Amino acid sequence: MSAKAVYLETFGCQMNELDSDLVRGQLAALGYRFVPTADQADVVLYNTCSVRDLAEQKVRSRLGEMAVRKQQESSLVVGVLGCMAERDGTDLLRRMPVVDILCGPAELDKLPGLLDNAVRTRASLDGELTHEQSAKAVALQGSASRRTGTLAAAEDRLELLDLSRTVSPTDHNGSSYVRITRGCNKFCTYCVVPFTRGAEVHRPPDHIVDECKRLADAGVIEVTLLGQTVNHYRFEQGAAVTVGGVTQPQKGRSYQGGHRRDPFTGERVTTFADLLKRIHDEAPGIQRLRFVTSYPRDFGDDVLEVMRDSPRICRYLHVPAQSGSDTVLKRMNRGYTVSEYLEFVDRARAFLDQPEIGRPLMVAGDMIVGFPGETDEDFEASVQFLRRVKYKNCFIFKYSPRPGTVAFDRIPDDVPDQVKRRRNNELLAVQNEMSDKIAQSQVGATLNVFVEGLSAHERKRQAPVAASGGVSLTISGRQVGEGGTSIDEAPVGAAQLCGRTDGDLIVMFDTPAGAAPDDLIGRILPITIERASALTLFGAPASK
Ligand code: 5AD
Ligand code: SF4
Repeated sequence: MSAKAVYLETFGCQMNELDSDLVRGQLAALGYRFVPTADQADVVLYNTCSVRDLAEQKVRSRLGEMAVRKQQESSLVVGVLGCMAERDGTDLLRRMPVVDILCGPAELDKLPGLLDNAVRTRASLDGELTHEQSAKAVALQGSASRRTGTLAAAEDRLELLDLSRTVSPTDHNGSSYVRITRGCNKFCTYCVVPFTRGAEVHRPPDHIVDECKRLADAGVIEVTLLGQTVNHYRFEQGAAVTVGGVTQPQKGRSYQGGHRRDPFTGERVTTFADLLKRIHDEAPGIQRLRFVTSYPRDFGDDVLEVMRDSPRICRYLHVPAQSGSDTVLKRMNRGYTVSEYLEFVDRARAFLDQPEIGRPLMVAGDMIVGFPGETDEDFEASVQFLRRVKYKNCFIFKYSPRPGTVAFDRIPDDVPDQVKRRRNNELLAVQNEMSDKIAQSQVGATLNVFVEGLSAHERKRQAPVAASGGVSLTISGRQVGEGGTSIDEAPVGAAQLCGRTDGDLIVMFDTPAGAAPDDLIGRILPITIERASALTLFGAPASK
């Protein structure tokens, strides 16, 4: 059989982007080749997100397009991976018969088998396949993931998938994600993640540190650690289970605070602070270490101290608050009050905000508007909250009721969509004002910028070049130029590059005369900021 061409599109979060990277590595090792558009592909895979209905709608519309194509081309294989596969389950197969493969986020190690099955079934039936005949390939965890007691076998297999990751020195743009924790135990009432990704499981620290070292050896200089509540990371060596010589991931218990070791039993606990310090010290090639997403409670001074004392750990926290009203936070089951949140942000700033040495602390957040029962007063409290916290940027979402969650079942979605929309726009305007103030305060400063690739504007400008042979690909969610998109073929004028500061501020600048973008992408350069808009800084390489 000739190498099957696969198109993989990713929706949603960074965790999904990492999953897609792993899927790509796994399938490429088996001889599948990846193509940049669906119409060139024999196999179309969507790695989906279920956090809001809008994300699911996008996938449904893609599936509709594929259904039309499949009428002419019955050999086409279509797979839905990720949270939507897990949440919708076999219902999705009934409603969308175009789907051949369903694979939940905790079952991705099974994808090669499912895909092989689906491809062979289609090949053997040679175009004669009706939907009734077509065998569907399904791997979902169902409710197994939340079983208590011993580790589910699925977690061990998933760990092997993370461990199997191969990184070649040429297939990255210098930045990579590393998972430290899977799943979530928080059960915020609006959120599907604990259902789709299962119970919280922490990866063994040695595996994480080794992965960072391997990435560094392959030339990666920026690592973002991923977990739904990263600061809850905790691994007990004393309780670690080893199977076939491989230490297994460990179920999260209810969080017990920062450094809690028992010297008498000799229990050795790796806390999040320990993990950060180990990666920082043992993989010094990683020049930028960041992590998302932080949970605003249980964030000990131990972590802040390690951040302060480790020059390669970024001064950046993404710590969603979701609301500025205590009553709403309670209904969301967030487990903290507004004043506890503010105490945390103030404490983090006291430890880490050092603009005088060019290292301001940047804080980013997430807010939901229109959660059931949110009154005008609650909303006004969120407005005041944004003014007080001063996020660098904040993602603002309209509440989207998700089937299966507590809020969906028990709290009527009583804020009209029009009110949600108005509140969304109002909060965005306030955040924009705050982001703009922070951005303007950077004008004149020289900041170290990690150069990620051509700016979106530049990619558009060079589009005819890309169409005539150059390809672009996304690694870790960031668009980078590859191969054919060389500067020799680029339109006249300096190419605009895009990068980020240690505090995650986006910076654009023109390639300096005499340099080619490819020489700069993946490096850290000092850039002097000349002007700013709310979400972007513009500058030029600092003269030596
Ligand atoms: N509706 C709206 N926003 C949601 N989020 C999670 N679930 C929902 C929902 N049902 C947002 C939260 C979270 C981010 C990843 O998505 O703000 O932090
Ligand atoms: Fe969802 Fe809450 Fe877990 Fe975040 S902490 S993934 S919002 S349940």
